[in-house]
Amino acid sequence: MLKGRSILLGITGSVAAYKSIDLIKRLKQEGASVKVIMTGASQRFITPLSIELAAGDKIYTDMFEAPLSHISLPAGADLFIIAPASADIIGKYANGIADDMLSTTLLAYSGKVIIAPAMNWRMYENPIFRKNLNYLASLGIKAVGPDRGSLACGEEGVGRMADIEKIMESIITSLTVQDLAGEQVLVTAGPTREYIDPIRYITNRSSGKMGYALAAIAKRRGAEVTLISGPVSVIPPDGVDVVTVGSAREMRTAVMEALPMSSIFIMSAAVADFMPVDVRDSKIEKKERLQLNLVKTRDILEEVGALKSKPFTVGFAAETGHRLDRARKKLLGKDMDMIVFNDVSRKNAGFDVDTNEVVILDRGEEKKLPLMSKKDVAVAIFDRILELKENRL
Ligand code: PMT
Repeated sequence: MLKGRSILLGITGSVAAYKSIDLIKRLKQEGASVKVIMTGASQRFITPLSIELAAGDKIYTDMFEAPLSHISLPAGADLFIIAPASADIIGKYANGIADDMLSTTLLAYSGKVIIAPAMNWRMYENPIFRKNLNYLASLGIKAVGPDRGSLACGEEGVGRMADIEKIMESIITSLTVQDLAGEQVLVTAGPTREYIDPIRYITNRSSGKMGYALAAIAKRRGAEVTLISGPVSVIPPDGVDVVTVGSAREMRTAVMEALPMSSIFIMSAAVADFMPVDVRDSKIEKKERLQLNLVKTRDILEEVGALKSKPFTVGFAAETGHRLDRARKKLLGKDMDMIVFNDVSRKNAGFDVDTNEVVILDRGEEKKLPLMSKKDVAVAIFDRILELKENRL
């Protein structure tokens, strides 16, 4: 995601400074090159040697070590991230103070800046600090976190540095073309549960990973995102409006409510195809045989397909075997704009795993994608949606 990108990382004095090692590793994993500046206070919490080993490069600590390094260092950087960002660096930055290597380099930098504040909750709530933070926000400086949790002082409150994954997501988003800005994306994910009695239900297999990846990528590319999710244990992406549902009926209601506000609708949920005719309100006693009387659930996509006015509509087809014919039949039968064929019998594809192997079909073309991460599948799906939407104009 960050291949060829050059990131400047500033580390300031906070107990969270040790987490910078993980941040450096993640940035490098995503293909970025990382240059690090440490303040004097940060070196009380973590040694420059540990950071140097993680970065695999020289660390900058002293302004006078190499003349003009505060000008040359940020020159080619795509983004400057300060993590952790103490109240001190935020105060200096907001007031144009340049009295060490980090604050001076920051003042000399005119590109994108993200700060990840970390401090005691009292400092975070101090109106003087808030004024500085708000002023930076008004200049377009993005703050990620801080989060609520137990703080170094032993107290609970808002002040913990945001998770490394949250910081990574905000870095990647800042460097991603916002080509879905202005779109309202509605995604469904996960299974539905159809209760037999208060204890038992029937369901379809689905971890929600594919749908959550679609929501994350849409958000990253600038869309407003609503995610309607069945019961899953995946953590929803930040900034996405999440509606949780249980049954197919609940999912249908939530979809129909959100649909009029949506410009793109993606149905990746594994909706149960059947539900019990009647749900018992007390536990069914165990016996040798039990016959269930099931009836088909309402097909949400079919209902959306039949609407006169509808968003750009994408379905998924989960099949066992290379049954592209069945996917095409669903595409036409439910009057969709696009369908993603998913052979769930293939290794590392379909349910539960982080990867998938799909074919994207629309009214004209078929595009077979290799095995890739679900996030990359989501990127390819949105690329194709944008191509098709542009051709329509
Ligand atoms: O969640 P993961 O573990 O990451 O797995 C991802 C996935 C395999 C669940 C996903 O990629 C996928 O294929 N989702 C669609 C599953 C499915 O129900 O496929 P289907 O071929 O049975 O249904 C066709 C389409 O009709 C689907 O878009 C489905 O959401 C929709 N449908 C089905 C039944 C119903 N009552 N209403 C519907 O709208």
